[in-house]
Amino acid sequence: MTTYAAITGCGRAVPHRVLTNSDLEKLVDTSDEWIRTRTGISERRVVADDEATSDLAIRAAREALAAAATDPADLDLVIVATCTPDWMFPSVAARVQHAVGARRAAAFDLNAACSGFIFALATATQFIQNGSYRRVLVVGSEVLSRVVDWADRKTCVLFGDGAGAVVLEATEKPLGLLSYVLGTDGSGDRLLYLLGPTASPQQRARAETTYLYMNGPEVFKFAVNVTVAASRQVLERAGYTLEDVALFVPHQANERIIRAAAKSLHLPADKVYINLDRFGNTSAASIPIALAEAVERGRLRPGDLVLMVGFGAGLTWAAGLVRWGSPNGTGPGG
Ligand code: ACO
Repeated sequence: MTTYAAITGCGRAVPHRVLTNSDLEKLVDTSDEWIRTRTGISERRVVADDEATSDLAIRAAREALAAAATDPADLDLVIVATCTPDWMFPSVAARVQHAVGARRAAAFDLNAACSGFIFALATATQFIQNGSYRRVLVVGSEVLSRVVDWADRKTCVLFGDGAGAVVLEATEKPLGLLSYVLGTDGSGDRLLYLLGPTASPQQRARAETTYLYMNGPEVFKFAVNVTVAASRQVLERAGYTLEDVALFVPHQANERIIRAAAKSLHLPADKVYINLDRFGNTSAASIPIALAEAVERGRLRPGDLVLMVGFGAGLTWAAGLVRWGSPNGTGPGG
């Protein structure tokens, strides 16, 4: 019998501090109107001085565990998708494992930039489907506000901080990730990057900046194309069509990217989940934050087919098709 990995609970955590577009008008030569019309973003959350990626990850993880009514001691594995860890080692996942009391669980971080959550979901699902593990916690957590250049208007207006988490549990019912597409094109490494602490002096000399660098227009084109292509592929792999999709949850980078992809896919606006107006681009956290919020708002119900697509530095892309719901029928949104 086939084993599946149902999503039995989700949670999210964003910092309390709100940074609005008018706040940014005081930092760089920009305007609320430019940011809203070019990106769809009105405000984003930014961590306080005593908050870091692992703190947000722990808060989101606790919320997901409570929603799933899972005892942390029963977790077998913790994966944290992040490209902005507060510690290079130990991993953010090790800190989450300890903080939530997942004392039996192995833990590691995974970096596929903004595609990281779907990469982590696919990885976790493999461990469950091959029978190694029964319960896995997957978190996406980022603090982009500490790696953007607050004097660079081309990037600082786009990003925000936050975390989202899901609990996966083994079941014989056809729930959870039904198909996935993961992709990488390392030739795009110079389009979107952030040097690490071990970068050589030569690498530093060649870099445009020591902060996050992005060639926005090139990433934009890549993002629209890959969102459309990966959506079609992931549906085809599972034998579904776009008409079967109840909710499209794309990576929240730019509303224009989302609208262009949705138009190309003929997805009506009421099937597209957008919350970047309030959170900006939170990289690997954007999809799990959106999932948790969609459940809270009654936009996701058990039995729904959810299409998720992410893209980002690497370049990387990922799509996942999820049958929403918990094996006992009372799971997230139930
Ligand atoms: N305020 C005012 N003007 C601005 C701003 C700003 N914040 N930013 C750029 N401009 C100006 C530019 O200087 C340029 O002016 P110029 O023509 O005089 O040189 C003009 O606006 C147009 O700039 P573009 O960069 O061509 O603007 P574009 O419409 O492409 O929008 C944006 C830029 C929003 C960055 C867009 O390209 C984008 O969203 N790209 C994709 C980003 C993304 O999806 N990233 C995902 C992955 S992130 C990750 O993995 C970590």
